[in-house]
Formats: sequence, structure tokens, C-alpha cells
Amino acid sequence: MPAPNILRTSANRASQPARSTDPDESSGWHTLLQLTDPHLFADPQGQLLDVTTRRSFEAVLELALERSLPAEALVLTGDLVHDESPEGYRALRRLLDRTGLPYYCIPGNHDSHRLMKDLLGPAALAPIAVRTVGDWNLVFLDSTEPGRESGRLGQTRLVSLGELLAADSAPAVVFLHQHPIPVQSAWMDALGVEDGEDLLLVCDRHPQVKAVVCGHIHQEFAERHGALQILGTPSTCVQFKPRCADFAIDTRPPGYREIKLLENGRIHSQVIRLSGYPERASAAAAGY
Ligand SMILES: [Fe+2]
Repeated sequence: MPAPNILRTSANRASQPARSTDPDESSGWHTLLQLTDPHLFADPQGQLLDVTTRRSFEAVLELALERSLPAEALVLTGDLVHDESPEGYRALRRLLDRTGLPYYCIPGNHDSHRLMKDLLGPAALAPIAVRTVGDWNLVFLDSTEPGRESGRLGQTRLVSLGELLAADSAPAVVFLHQHPIPVQSAWMDALGVEDGEDLLLVCDRHPQVKAVVCGHIHQEFAERHGALQILGTPSTCVQFKPRCADFAIDTRPPGYREIKLLENGRIHSQVIRLSGYPERASAAAAGY
């Protein structure tokens, strides 16, 4: 497959919000592109359940850069490199560097913290970090625990989050890997953030948090917790079927989430998928 035609874009758009004639977006906005769970391998032809993950990641990245510009940053919410190989992280960095956009990466349960730090440099954010886009704070949390597929934030990190939010009331979005509330798939809900309810309690005390956005579930998800949006996003490779008691593959194509942070403190987001993408995960797969 030929290399994607990745557009180069200035990284200095944070003070230049996009504008629209849409009255609901008349205040202007800043666009983030969330790509999640690429599960790359050292081998460019490496496959997860019959999907060549580097190829599908490149295709989703290319689509995002065509459809959602001007964007101000890329956010990658974990499971970056399935075989946790140095070459997998180097390949990811090469692809992300070519976009010309700032990018922020948090770990998933399929990631090496050490390799992320060594090979992604300042883009590797853990255990808690804040970056700004326009007037918004992007808060990145590491929800992973070594050797476990489920996640946990722990009191220390939750207290840090509360202190951070108490000190700055700018509108905020929280990103983490595992899902903080059930998604109504029993097998997947056993692998969520164990103390997700505690995270929501912190968000309740700080209503400037407008959304909690996760990866991990390999499917589109959107639910409200009061005024707070809880959002999950398709993987750039294999999809899991929503609302299934046991592991099940979804044949819908890979995609990403476009997140518009409006200057009035609201969020608009949508999932955008590839169309006509030839590879699909094997529907007969019993796990991964
Ligand atoms: Fe994943």
C-alpha cells in the first residue's frame, strides 16, 4: 500500500480557533483527533485477527487529516504497540511526526511504559499530565496497572486530579485508556477502570470537566453522566461488537473520533470511519 499523503499543518493553531457560520458553533472551536488502540507491530505486515494494523492505522490517520483539518493535536489513547517492540514505537513516531501536528500518547494495557518514554519522548504522558489547547485543558491519566488488562487510577492519582482541577477552572477533557463506566459487554466490563466511579465523583466536584474519553473498548460509545459526556472510540484496527456478554468481533470498519472543543465550553464530537476498507477481523475469532 502506498504511503499515505499526510498533510503538514502548523502546530501553532491553538490561538487561532476555527470558525463557522453554524450558530451553535459561532464561538469558534479547536479540533482534536483521537486515534486509539492501533496495536502496531515491529513487522509492518503484522496482523491482529487478520487486520494489518499498521496499514489500517495509516489509512485512518490519512482519513482524519483529510476530513478533520484544521486540527490542532492528535490524541492516542493507548494500546499503541501490540508486541511492545522498539520498532513498533519508532514506526508510530515516524507516522505521527509526519503529520506536523502535536501529539499526545497515554499507555494502554498493551504498551511498554519504558519504551514509550524512551522512543516517544515528551509525547508520552504518564501518570498524569495536562496540555492546553486554546482555553481548554486536556488532562491525561494513566489508568493501566502492570500485568493487568483492567485499569485502576488509585487514590494518589485521583487526589492529584482533584487538586489540578481545583487550581484551574478552565473547561477540561480527561483522557484515559480503560473505560470508567460499564459499556454493557460483560467480558469487556470486567476489564474497565476498577475505580471509575471515583473518577466520576472527582469530575462531579469539578463541573468544568466536560468529557471523559477512553480507548480500550474498540467500539463507539457515548453516554451521559449528568452533564458529563463519557465517550469511547473505535480502534484503528479490530472492532469489538457492542453489548455482547462474550468476546465478539464487529465487522464495522476502523475509525477515529473528531472532537471539537468550542470556545463556549461545549464539546461536539463524532466518530468517522473508513469506508470500503478491504480488511476486516475474522468474525470467528474467540479472543485476542
Ligand atoms: Fe486495544
